[in-house]
Amino acid sequence: MTISQQAFLRDAMRRLNLTRDVFATRIGVKRRALDTWLLPEGSQEFRAMPEVVQRFVSEIVQNGVLLEKYTQSVQDGPLRDRIAVEGKHQLLSVDQFTRESVEDLFRVADMMQPIARRQKVSRVLEGAVLGNLFFEASTRTRVSFGSAFCRLGGSVCDTTGFTFSSMAKGESIYDTSRVMSGYVDAMVIRHPDQGSVAEFARATNIPVVNGGDGPGEHPSQALLDLYTILTEFSRLGKLLDGAHIAMVGDLKYGRTVHSLIKLMALYKNVKFSLVSPKGLEMPSYIIEQASRNGNLIEQKTTLAEGLAGADVIYATRVQKERFANEENEGYTPDFQINRAIIDAYCSPETIVMHPLPRDSRPGANDLSVDLNHDPRLAIFRQTDNGIPIRMAIFAVLLGVEGLVQHSLRDVTWQHPSHVGPDDSVFHGLE
Ligand code: NCD
Repeated sequence: MTISQQAFLRDAMRRLNLTRDVFATRIGVKRRALDTWLLPEGSQEFRAMPEVVQRFVSEIVQNGVLLEKYTQSVQDGPLRDRIAVEGKHQLLSVDQFTRESVEDLFRVADMMQPIARRQKVSRVLEGAVLGNLFFEASTRTRVSFGSAFCRLGGSVCDTTGFTFSSMAKGESIYDTSRVMSGYVDAMVIRHPDQGSVAEFARATNIPVVNGGDGPGEHPSQALLDLYTILTEFSRLGKLLDGAHIAMVGDLKYGRTVHSLIKLMALYKNVKFSLVSPKGLEMPSYIIEQASRNGNLIEQKTTLAEGLAGADVIYATRVQKERFANEENEGYTPDFQINRAIIDAYCSPETIVMHPLPRDSRPGANDLSVDLNHDPRLAIFRQTDNGIPIRMAIFAVLLGVEGLVQHSLRDVTWQHPSHVGPDDSVFHGLE
């Protein structure tokens, strides 16, 4: 098998849209056996699946794909062409994706996991240079895009803020974009104005990735969030079709939730509960776009109404830096997601997410740190998934995803098995 057993099985379940239990029954094995086959290869309980099972799974997946082709006339061609914007290989909005293409991208991300987990190295982007242009505050997006590019063998050049860029001298987006195109092979841009990254993209033919355009979109964050949800659901034996997702906080200016709700709307019968302080509700143009495929969107004003029975709670920071004339001073304690709230309204299988950063200053009432040791808190599994997803984005946009598998070599350095002291036992999916 060219990909890892875990990636192979996860992909099969995703393509067949089956939970672990149903998949185990479908291939005639015990759920416990399937669980051990789904562990990472380095883990103690890992077992290799028999070759006959592997052949059988390949066969049913292939039959499923063929059937889909006949019934839905699936488009062919490289993924970069299928998600292209006006023929250009760029990532500006989640609107570029279909459910099929998003799952194709996740297959590439699965292939990147051994690199992200520091078991393998690859040099498929050797010689390529990334320009990271961040005109707004960022830690994880800027560093994880840079790290993802480096882990594929490329190099990164950074510029941060307006002060040290020629934009402070009045240079236009058009000129900046064209100049950078002569220096680098791809750009990631974060900028405070909605639509500005698309303007950068129009002025160049090199791949441009939207790292957040004001209150507009944050497509790479939504992709890693959805990837995290599907991975967590796979462990919990759930499907996204028919799930209940609660989004909490500043849904007006939070670009992560704008992208995420549109991306999740590619799935069927999802129930979204939107809970926000007054005046910070989700814009209606996004609600309209997301109300497709039989998805139900309910707006709630209290956590009690919105969280009951949720499979996922996605909390967000109040984006005070974007406030125009808002009265709101931030969260009141009534909007804080903390242990007591989760215990009162949710099940042991609810997962709690946040794009981070969370505001941990006294009185902020953002996602509480009292959940840090609770395995339902998925925020660091979420940030860790930023690496394979961003590697997949670069590999696809630069057309090297087909070279990755054969380029893998073992790492030479020693690394801890759990990178964080509070990582729960299954953080490494053990
Ligand atoms: C978010 C952003 O910048 O939109 N952060 C991130 O990229 N993970 C969320 C935020 O700043 O609140």
